[in-house]
Amino acid sequence: MTVAHAPWAEPRLARKPGVQPLDPAAWLEPGTDTAAQMARRRALIETARGTVLAALPESAPAQAELLDAVVAHVGTEAPPDPSPLGRAGRMVQEDFCILEKRAGEGEYRLTAAILCFPSRWSLAEKLGRPLTRIHAPVPDYTDDLAARVNRLFDGVRTGRPLWRANWTVHPTDELHQPSGDWRHAGEGMLHIRVERQTFLRLPRTGAVVFGIRTHVDPLTALTAAQAASLHAALAPLGADEIAYRGGAALHRDALAALAPFAAA
Ligand code: HEM
Repeated sequence: MTVAHAPWAEPRLARKPGVQPLDPAAWLEPGTDTAAQMARRRALIETARGTVLAALPESAPAQAELLDAVVAHVGTEAPPDPSPLGRAGRMVQEDFCILEKRAGEGEYRLTAAILCFPSRWSLAEKLGRPLTRIHAPVPDYTDDLAARVNRLFDGVRTGRPLWRANWTVHPTDELHQPSGDWRHAGEGMLHIRVERQTFLRLPRTGAVVFGIRTHVDPLTALTAAQAASLHAALAPLGADEIAYRGGAALHRDALAALAPFAAA
């Protein structure tokens, strides 16, 4: 077995911000988990709408432009929903955050999102915030990284999307985790959660679409080499990072599960 992406094992992705050019034809990424994830998305859009969908009124043009981009990419008609984000969210596995910068503003702000599969964050809490404030709880989001991310957003060019990936170990395969509080995280089998994140400029409105495609696999799906490199990536984390990523017990459990593969 293997997993679709192992960003901790690839130096060009593991360094931050770790952003790479993306073939526009590969903007969206289906997989063997498509049917299951789409069923879950449709259910969440109906039963947890206020949690997974939020938008400031000013984002309406960018929402419409995003839906057009998804429809053009997939080549099928959008299913009905009162919101363009709901329509896009019912079509593809990606979650989408819309970021916009108005004249006179220093940073891109989150103006709308369809976010069925948040990895322990609350959309309501972050809506309207600029990028640096969104990342306030993140220990390794340094001032230097913040400045680089802001420059990167200014520089995303139409027709030249970008991508990066992040990863976390979770004690569950639950996709929908809309709380930053790890006490809600569950205590099940250990999983590796990878987000394939894309950056796409919408030409009409100038908004940047941040796409999040979530992959969740049990640690047992990793190849021996992937497990060894994950052990090597987890082992040196400092106390702040360990706390942010779920705490000492989870960190210890993950290292123990991966130890048989670790290089001697
Ligand atoms: C190149 C761009 C970006 C970089 C380098 C970056 C980096 C990070 C890092 C290092 C984390 C900590 C978790 C982890 O290690 O995976 C994080 C968390 C997060 N990021 Fe980003 N990020 C970027 C873009 C964005 C964008 C565009 C959004 C828009 C919504 C966003 C929203 C978040 C949120 C909500 C969290 C969780 C924060 C919390 O715990 O409250 N990120 N990001």
